[in-house]
Amino acid sequence: YRNLRIALLGAGSVGSQVARLLLEHGDELAARVGAGLELVGVAVRDVDAKRDVDIPRELLTTDALTLIQSADVVIELMGGIEPAKQYILAAINSGADVVTGNKALLATHGPELFAAAEQVGAQLYYEAAAGGAIPIIRPLRDSLAGDRVKRVMGIVNGTTNFILDRMDVQGDSFENALAVATELGYAEADPTADVEGYDAAQKAAILASLAFHTAVPVEAVHREGMTTVTAAQVEAAEKAGFVVKLLAICERLTDPETGVEGVVARVHPALISRRHPLAAVHDAKNAVFVQAEAAGDLMFYGAGAGGTETASAVLGDLVSAARRHVAGGPGVGESVHANLPVFGIGSVTTRY
Ligand code: HSE
Repeated sequence: YRNLRIALLGAGSVGSQVARLLLEHGDELAARVGAGLELVGVAVRDVDAKRDVDIPRELLTTDALTLIQSADVVIELMGGIEPAKQYILAAINSGADVVTGNKALLATHGPELFAAAEQVGAQLYYEAAAGGAIPIIRPLRDSLAGDRVKRVMGIVNGTTNFILDRMDVQGDSFENALAVATELGYAEADPTADVEGYDAAQKAAILASLAFHTAVPVEAVHREGMTTVTAAQVEAAEKAGFVVKLLAICERLTDPETGVEGVVARVHPALISRRHPLAAVHDAKNAVFVQAEAAGDLMFYGAGAGGTETASAVLGDLVSAARRHVAGGPGVGESVHANLPVFGIGSVTTRY
C-alpha cells in the first residue's frame, strides 16, 4: 500500500514524543490504518536546539510551509496563535488533514479554522487540546452526539489540582504548594495561565462548544483563578465534607425570566462533596465528569499533560486522519490486525 506523508510542526515536549513514537511504532499503526505512515519532516525554529528526543537530523527543517505542501496529514504542536494559525490554514488549503493540540488557537479562532476545513472537505482533529491523554473530545463530539448533555464539570488543569490537593492533603499554604509544583516541573516559570484559570477557561470553551454543539468563545467563559484560596478555607471545607477544586463547569440552563435555553461556561474554585468522584482526583491528574440526559453520569480520568501522555492523543488522531485517507482500509469498526496470540486464563492475576 502507499505511504501517507506525515508532517510534524514543532518538536517540544509533546512533538518530540510524537516523533519518537511514530518512528518506533509506525509499522504497528500502519497495520491499523492500511497504509504506511511516513514522517517526512519536522519543522522547528532551531534545528540545533536541545530536545527530549533525538530526531534524525535529515527530518528537521525550518521551512514549515514547504514541508506542509508535501504532506497528507499535518500535525501542529507548536502552540501559540501565529504562525500556527497560518500553517494550519496552509495545510487545509493544500488538501491535508490537520491534527493539533493547540487549545489557545482553537479557543480563540476555532470557528474560522473549522469553516476553512469544511469548505475544502478537510478534517481538523484536536483530541490533545483538552485533557491531554484523556479521550474527551471524541466522546463529546461523537459518542454522545445522540444524547443531550446537561452539564460538564472538569478538573482540566493539572498544576492547580496539584496545588489544591497538596493544600487539602498536607495542609500546605498556596505559596508552598506552588513552590513544590514549580520544583517538580508541573508549574511553568510563569504560572499565571494556570493559577488564574486562563488555561482552564480555554479548555472550557472547547468542551462547552462540543458538549452543546454551539460555538462558545473563550471570552464568554467566566473565569476566576485560585490564588486567593487559603489553607483555612480548605480546612473548613474539609470539616464540612467538601474539597476545593478549580472546576470548569459548562451547563445547559434555561433563563428563568425569558424561558430561553442557553449555555453557561465558567471556571472558578468550587466545593465538591468528598463523596463525588471528582474529589478522588489527586495530584496533577485531570478528570471530566459529564451528565447527559439519557446516558446519565460518565467520568473520564487521566493525565492532563505530559509529553508521552499527550502524544498518545495526538497519535490516535493521526490514525483517525490516516484511516480517512485510505479507501477500503481497515476502517474503525473492527481493528483486528496485530495477530497477537490470545492466552488462556492460567497466568491471570486478580490483584490490581
Ligand atoms: N499547564 C497545563 C496544566 C498543561 O497544568 O494542566 C496542560 O495543558
